Amino acid sequence: MNNKPKRKKLKVGPNLRAFSADSWQLRPRQRMAHVSAVLQVLLKRNLLVPKGKALDIGTGFGYGAIALSKIGLEVHGFDICKGRLNEGLSKIVGAENGIKSAQKVRVNNKLYFSASRSGRVQEKDNSFDIAFSFYTSPYIFESKNLAEYSRLIKPGGKLVVTTDIDLDNTVTRLANANWGKFTVEHVLSIKGVRDKTVIIFQNKK
Ligand SMILES: C[S@@+](CC[C@H](N)C(=O)[O-])C[C@H]1O[C@@H](n2cnc3c(N)ncnc32)[C@H](O)[C@@H]1O
Repeated sequence: MNNKPKRKKLKVGPNLRAFSADSWQLRPRQRMAHVSAVLQVLLKRNLLVPKGKALDIGTGFGYGAIALSKIGLEVHGFDICKGRLNEGLSKIVGAENGIKSAQKVRVNNKLYFSASRSGRVQEKDNSFDIAFSFYTSPYIFESKNLAEYSRLIKPGGKLVVTTDIDLDNTVTRLANANWGKFTVEHVLSIKGVRDKTVIIFQNKK
């Protein structure tokens, strides 16, 4: 029997319903490799400082948070979906059923996770130097969520959004969307990895 997960057919329409090939979340090796490749490009171009505190928004199984912690940042990864977080913790980090609520759980001194919904993250104002949304989804620019990210990220800090989709000019439309207090600083195209585009915003609060 073929137990391989079926690749979902993407629905990417003019309403920007999906920005990523979501089924890739089920492939830890590839996802980790691609997230790490993006971070290496940012480091090489001096667009990322490998210290300080980072937020990984919608961390899913936690790939982005883990990759960020490995290069030296202290990371809080959160996701609305407890099941994904706990599956990630058990498969990738080897811990069991640790994440039950929005209270953050420590994996090690660089890595924390919580089951939080954007808009309800239990962290103080200006706690983070940078926030990431790897393989972003449309909830990211709901105005209440952007207001929260702006509150959590220091003034002048960065919000980094990646997508592997550019159908119907998704990237241009993402870059031109209303991002509240965030303004676009860089749009990078990274060839050879699935994350084709990285948009870096600055928090102008
Ligand atoms: C396309 S996946 C990306 C996952 C992860 N960043 C990665 O690179 O594998 C989007 C994630 O956002 C999470 N999500 C959706 N709405 C959310 C919300 N309002 N607050 C927090 N997480 C949310 C989903 O549960 C999902 O894990």
